[in-house]
Amino acid sequence: MNSSPKRRLFVTTALPYANGPFHIGHIMEYIQADTWVRFQRMGGHEVHFVGADDAHGAPIMIAAEKAGKTPQQFVADIAAGRRQYLDGFHIRFDNWHNTDGAENHQLAQDVYRALRKSGLIAMRDIEQFYDPVKGMFLPDRYIKGQCPKCGAADQYGDACEVCGAVYAPTELKNPYSTLSGATPELRKSEHYFFQLSSDRCADFLREWTQASNAHGQPHLQTEVLNKVREWFAVDENGHGGLADWDISRDAPYFGIEIPDAPGKYFYVWLDAPVGYLASLKNHFDKGQAAAHWHAASRTAQSYDTFMADPTVEQVHFIGKDIVYFHTLFWPAMLKFSGRKTPSQINVHGFVTVGGEKMSKSRGTGISPLKYLDIGLNPEWLRYYLVAKLSSRVEDVDFTPEDFIARVNSDLIGKYVNIASRAAKFISQQFDGRLGYFGTTQEITDAAQALAGDVAAAFEAREYARALREVMAYADRINTAFDAAQPWLLAKDETRRAELQGACSRALAGFWLLSVVLSPVLPALTARVARELFGLERDFVWADTAVLPQRVAPYQHLMQRIDPKLLDKLFEADAPAAAPAAAATNGKTMPPAAAPSAIAAAAQDAAISIDDFGKVDLRIARIVHAEAVEGSTKLLRLTLDAGETGDDGQPRTRTVFSGISSAYKPEDLRGRLTVMVANLAPRKMKFGLSEGMVLAASAADERAEPGLYLLEPHAGAQPGMRVR
Ligand code: 2FM
Ligand code: ZN
Repeated sequence: MNSSPKRRLFVTTALPYANGPFHIGHIMEYIQADTWVRFQRMGGHEVHFVGADDAHGAPIMIAAEKAGKTPQQFVADIAAGRRQYLDGFHIRFDNWHNTDGAENHQLAQDVYRALRKSGLIAMRDIEQFYDPVKGMFLPDRYIKGQCPKCGAADQYGDACEVCGAVYAPTELKNPYSTLSGATPELRKSEHYFFQLSSDRCADFLREWTQASNAHGQPHLQTEVLNKVREWFAVDENGHGGLADWDISRDAPYFGIEIPDAPGKYFYVWLDAPVGYLASLKNHFDKGQAAAHWHAASRTAQSYDTFMADPTVEQVHFIGKDIVYFHTLFWPAMLKFSGRKTPSQINVHGFVTVGGEKMSKSRGTGISPLKYLDIGLNPEWLRYYLVAKLSSRVEDVDFTPEDFIARVNSDLIGKYVNIASRAAKFISQQFDGRLGYFGTTQEITDAAQALAGDVAAAFEAREYARALREVMAYADRINTAFDAAQPWLLAKDETRRAELQGACSRALAGFWLLSVVLSPVLPALTARVARELFGLERDFVWADTAVLPQRVAPYQHLMQRIDPKLLDKLFEADAPAAAPAAAATNGKTMPPAAAPSAIAAAAQDAAISIDDFGKVDLRIARIVHAEAVEGSTKLLRLTLDAGETGDDGQPRTRTVFSGISSAYKPEDLRGRLTVMVANLAPRKMKFGLSEGMVLAASAADERAEPGLYLLEPHAGAQPGMRVR
């Protein structure tokens, strides 16, 4: 590992919108990246790890206006709150900047000019809704109206929350602007497009997305590549494939002006990733300014020289919701503006809590600040999240009991306890001196084997595997220590060497575990290095080959988790205690508000009456039923649930139901049953299914008795609500 030549790394995490505090999802991403960065630094590699606030866009402009601030002030106020989270969770960026900085204006315009020179920018008129009262074009999210499909009121411009239909804002019935209430007008405007659909771009992306970097690692994870392949795919009707990307927005807009295009601004997603480069440039410029005074400063290099080095690796950590931008737009922008393309795009899933996606309306989630405020140890969370992360795009679930169990049994029970048990004897009876007696070959061999495995796992972001190996090693150390029965040896003057040997081996194990856990537990292991082992620095990876010779008297290292703290974390609190979450990009999560973590987790199968109330069950008449050609399982049902369409005419729904083993179509016609009315429509091979009928079934549906449709008592009418 350490023998590998020095790498030069430029590492980023997704730039958070500057309109709300960090939520647990941000913190997880930062912990994932910070762990990787710390691991690389421990190996002696040069790493520049930068972040920034994503400042631009209509939502921020509008939020600022509502708050009575300039967008710049609004963004600055949010930025001022970042440090407490980052420091609080030991997340160590080298620089934190924002996309409205001068560097980004310059770089985004440079990138654009280069793309234009490459002939990849086109202009086209588009028709878009315009708010005549606000005097601005409306982003989709600020238009509401009646769903064109089911007629539900107050639906957003892109999709219906009631029937699940997806449509263009121009299809909404009776649209209105949520900003002013005005009826939007369709207006033409000239927009700028990045021609992603050009052969040049498509050919490049097809190749780049499948390729590997100089270190032999693929640019994209397999699952991500599969997704990207779907985006490339063109069906037999010529639909699909890459489309040109609309990169301009009309004034008023908080963003960066497009050169030679008065009144036009870059769409926020054009300049956001350029913000990675801007933050790096800002970092180097600051370093150079400092180096002017302190000639020896190691950051005294220029952004341009660094980025011109072909060996520099550019590594991005992002969430699964922004893959399109980072695997297509971003590499293409870089490539065709003559820049270095990313070496790795590392995509992670979301954080779920108790198996549920965090949601504002349900008030679930974990507030990172509250976590810190009530005195939960940040390294518990680091350890827990890292123990659950892999290189795959999987969600990471936080459950309070699991959290308590992992931390208490692994971190404290297996790891920290080694030190507290073994150091005591060494300091009391051997004046702090370790003595291994006999050959230490097998200790160092085992250490090298573990260090190699863990290094490989960290490198590949297989963190869960890394920590499993670490804990298995801790188990072996504890077992050997117990087998030596040091408490008996301590009573026997003639067996002092054995006692010292057993304790020294345990402490050598503790040293090794501390070294390899350093990327995950930076604060704790820094104390171990300094206070327990008397190093005057933090651990480096090469310390895995070292055997400690002295140990200081043990000092308390880490507490077990008191479950009461977790209850507190999930307690609903006075609004002031938790930072208000801004509802914006769909990612900003609310502060925690579940009743009792333990109680909630204990009965996690239970749902509330409100949850149940979300299911819209209706009596429906099966007006028609027929077999589905090509399917042995399905019947096509036509259901009347007393609904009317937009035209005022009665409306029926089609539902495909897997009940043909139990019913002949003719036996069903005219009968009443229960339908789930607000299930998102599902596209099936045979057509769209717009709901579901309820049936009782045995565990094995083919067994006797098999399947039974629900049917109401006499008197129920189509459309009646079932509750
Ligand atoms: O999804 C988001 O939160 C965006 N602000 C991420 C931008 S990442 C990068 F492109 F800046
Ligand atoms: Zn609808």
